[in-house]
Amino acid sequence: MLKKKLKKWILIERKNTKQIQMTKKTIDVFHNKKTRVPFFVPDISKSDKLVVMNALNSRMLTDGPQLRKFEQEFAKYTGSKYAVGVSNGTASLHLALKALGLKKGDEVIIPDITFVATANSVLLTGATPVLADVNYNDMNISLDSIKQNITSKTKAILPVHLAGKICKMSEIKKIAKKNNLLLIEDCAHAIGTKLNNKHAGTFGDIGCFSFYPTKNFTTIEGGMVITSSKRIAEYVTSARSHGLTRSLANRYSKGKPWDYDISEPGFNYRLDEIRSSLGLSQLKRIDSLNSKRFLASKYYSKQLEKIPEIITPEIFRKKEHTYHLYIIRIKNEFGQNRDQVFKKLKKAGIEVSLHYKPLHRFSGYKNLTKTYGKLDNSEQIYKESLSLPFYPAIPKKQQDLVINNIKNYRV
Ligand SMILES: Cc1ncc(COP(=O)(O)O)c(C=O)c1O
Repeated sequence: MLKKKLKKWILIERKNTKQIQMTKKTIDVFHNKKTRVPFFVPDISKSDKLVVMNALNSRMLTDGPQLRKFEQEFAKYTGSKYAVGVSNGTASLHLALKALGLKKGDEVIIPDITFVATANSVLLTGATPVLADVNYNDMNISLDSIKQNITSKTKAILPVHLAGKICKMSEIKKIAKKNNLLLIEDCAHAIGTKLNNKHAGTFGDIGCFSFYPTKNFTTIEGGMVITSSKRIAEYVTSARSHGLTRSLANRYSKGKPWDYDISEPGFNYRLDEIRSSLGLSQLKRIDSLNSKRFLASKYYSKQLEKIPEIITPEIFRKKEHTYHLYIIRIKNEFGQNRDQVFKKLKKAGIEVSLHYKPLHRFSGYKNLTKTYGKLDNSEQIYKESLSLPFYPAIPKKQQDLVINNIKNYRV
């Protein structure tokens, strides 16, 4: 009997090993064979894998104790009163805007340079995204452009801490207060970013985070809403789970499980226990991951600053910029334009990207967004910018390869 069981177990183990080997192959073919420097490599540790396996042993695979713990730890890390986990960053923005009552006819000012999710979340509420220009130097939303875009319909400002660099929050707060506007921060790039010891996302009414694989830490897919308002936290908690007034654990521990109400239909934006466990494990390493990003960005800048026709991101005090991305600008005087540099780097096996194509350039947004000002900086930045390969554990050798290639392209 025991022998039979053992045989069966060995067979299962063999099958699992085979499957793991197949997975490894899949990872290898993800990158082009010619890739010498990948754009991004996620940082997944042995303990990350262990906690994921442990979470799979749980009877409650979603909306359970790991999520509660992750929320508590994230609130502690960001210094916010409440943190509510959701299925991704877009869901966090969508629920934040819903919690603040944004609706058709309202206008929300967002930067022209951001990921499309910022605009989409506004559109999901029925409100209109109004595109503001960005500063030429740090690519964050411009204060002058915010002021130009305020109308009688404006209800909120939604700044994005692009690439991990904090926006001018005290000035934006003043504009919001003076014009009686709500303030939501898109902190998808800004885990760990602080200004005067205050974490990004705690300056306005709500802060929204993404834990997508390339972000400063990851739950694969995942997001978080932070706020100091009990009402907002309760709304998001209910709306992420179909609008139910009671959580799964609460329904099974007290009274009748079916004894809940729906005061407003919600969504399925839940964050499961596997992702929450991974988030908890990654959160423990966030400061070390961000320090590695900081050092890698300094290394790039030290070399690339020597080329006057290349603009490197400013090296700010450690916490004001957490280098989610490393974006350079290539001026005309370099002799090769951005597209030419892109092509050459690609040919050399170096993966580069662009963050982001300005929103006003997308055909689908032409009739859905508005702007009352000019978007000159965003246009200029679009022509010049290039995101270099960048991740916490990027080897110096790989950075050298990128730096030397760029140096050689100078005419
Ligand atoms: C600036 C910005 N906002 C929002 C999001 C949306 O996050 P998610 O992909 O987790 O939905 C992203 C994600 O990539 C982003 O970069």
